Amino acid sequence: MPTRVAFLVIICFPMVAQVPAPKDLRRFYQQNCVRCHGADGAALDAAGKKLRGQDLTDAAWRQATSDEAIAKTILKGKFFGQAMPAYKKELTPEEALQMAKEVVRGATKGKVIGPDNTEVVKP
Ligand code: HEC
Repeated sequence: MPTRVAFLVIICFPMVAQVPAPKDLRRFYQQNCVRCHGADGAALDAAGKKLRGQDLTDAAWRQATSDEAIAKTILKGKFFGQAMPAYKKELTPEEALQMAKEVVRGATKGKVIGPDNTEVVKP
């Protein structure tokens, strides 16, 4: 009997291990979005200004938009993926919505978007 249990453990383990770990979306932001939207999301660095990335910390814009609209932009990009690339290959719709709710809405001018949002943006 113990051998059968061991066998089950061996065949079941890979199935458990395959459940994808939740993506670290702040890290994803740092790797994919910073170059256009800036470390804090305010698009104040040179590249962001040139590309005219949306200031994600702008209160009026944030109030006027919805989580769903933000998630849609992240998945589809802007201007057919030209101005802003589409991320539908990298993110699931659920991850995009989570990104909208937690990362984009959590952005604060002057605070680096990162694990704890505390680091200050250097001018
Ligand atoms: C190549 C530059 C570029 C990259 C990379 C980029 N964006 Fe954008 N983003 C833009 C531009 C340009 C706009 C449009 C600004 C405007 O309409 O004024 C935009 C707009 C947005 C908006 C506003 C959407 C709306 O409907 O108003 C959100 C939210 C956003 N980006 C999030 C992200 C996130 C999250 C990432 C990373 C996963 C990202 N962007 C990566 C350039 C970029």
